Amino acid sequence: MIPCTILRRLQIVSRQLTTMAAAQKTTVTLNNGGEHPLLVYGTYKVGVVPASASDTGGPPPRTTAEVMKEVLEVGYRALDCAEFYANEVGVGEAIAASGIPRSELFIVDKCWNDTIYAGADAITKQVERSLTELQVDYIDLYLVHWPVPGKHVDCYKTLETLHAAGKIKAIGLSNYSIEDYEELKAGGITVKPVTNQFELNPFLYRTKTIKYFQDEGLVLQSYRTLRQGKEMSHPVLTGLAEKYGKTVAQLLGRWCVQQGIVYMPKSEKRHRMIENMDVFSFVIDDADMTALGNMTTQENIDGFKALYEKCVARDTPIAETMAGVKTSITYN
Ligand SMILES: NC(=O)c1ccc[n+]([C@@H]2O[C@H](COP(=O)([O-])OP(=O)(O)OC[C@H]3O[C@@H](n4cnc5c(N)ncnc54)[C@H](OP(=O)(O)O)[C@@H]3O)[C@@H](O)[C@H]2O)c1
Repeated sequence: MIPCTILRRLQIVSRQLTTMAAAQKTTVTLNNGGEHPLLVYGTYKVGVVPASASDTGGPPPRTTAEVMKEVLEVGYRALDCAEFYANEVGVGEAIAASGIPRSELFIVDKCWNDTIYAGADAITKQVERSLTELQVDYIDLYLVHWPVPGKHVDCYKTLETLHAAGKIKAIGLSNYSIEDYEELKAGGITVKPVTNQFELNPFLYRTKTIKYFQDEGLVLQSYRTLRQGKEMSHPVLTGLAEKYGKTVAQLLGRWCVQQGIVYMPKSEKRHRMIENMDVFSFVIDDADMTALGNMTTQENIDGFKALYEKCVARDTPIAETMAGVKTSITYN
């Protein structure tokens, strides 16, 4: 007979081991059966700041290739790229120089609004250009960057053709509202999207939209998880970071991956690249997860509404007229 106290102790240890095993899970399963890494390096503004970026900031300190060499050296194997970021040549140079086998990399890419607006030929040429610039012969996951009004369903269907040709292994969405997704589904698509990528952090946690896409079976990819580095001194975040013996960035990244949401931090600094990777070694307890999920204010939701309306047709002729831009979507 094992004494009760020892049995209880064994049960606690077993629970802790199960929790730690779950914490260490580094991928999430897509609805097509594939695995998506939960940690992805975001390449926006790495080496290049696009002219129409919302917040241009100062000139980047180093070239894309220099930064990306370090990104791969410190261990990132998944990269979030985009036509809009205008830096795929540098990303490709670093990939080629690294000698890392293609099968060990997971590359996400997206076509920009003007290309979506221009239609099928432009989209096909852009995918070919990205393959050349990135120096790869397929892209793991290709996204419609914004649901450009009147154009995004046709864009998706062109991506279905490229998917059938093996140029892109999966198709995903970015910045889609519930209403944009309903429009896409009604448009008669045949390949289910695997992901939707949008801003998702404790300051912009749109619970209705998140639940809707998760119920639809799409994996969410969070951008601006670190709120662009602007909330690193927030007292709730610093307090919780201290409690877990981690940095604020690690707390935010852990909060994200603990929900099975893809985390895509961007930093051009080597020490931060390494810091941001440490999100699989600890667990945030349920009460703190809930507290972090309750920080979104109406002001932040209003800011999201303005950004959606500004960006959904940016760099297209519609930007002038706002023709077809949805002004009443689900914001929360
Ligand atoms: N689909 C879309 O429309 C869309 C939109 C935006 C972003 N994205 C993707 O999401 C990625 C991430 O979003 P983001 O780059 O806008 O914002 P972010 O990752 O939330 O924040 C990046 C900012 O935080 C700073 N930072 C990074 N790690 C830090 C740390 N440990 N401590 C303190 N500051 C830190 C960075 O500065 P340093 O570089 O100086 O370290 C940078 O200024 C992008 O790179 C892109 O791939 C997609």
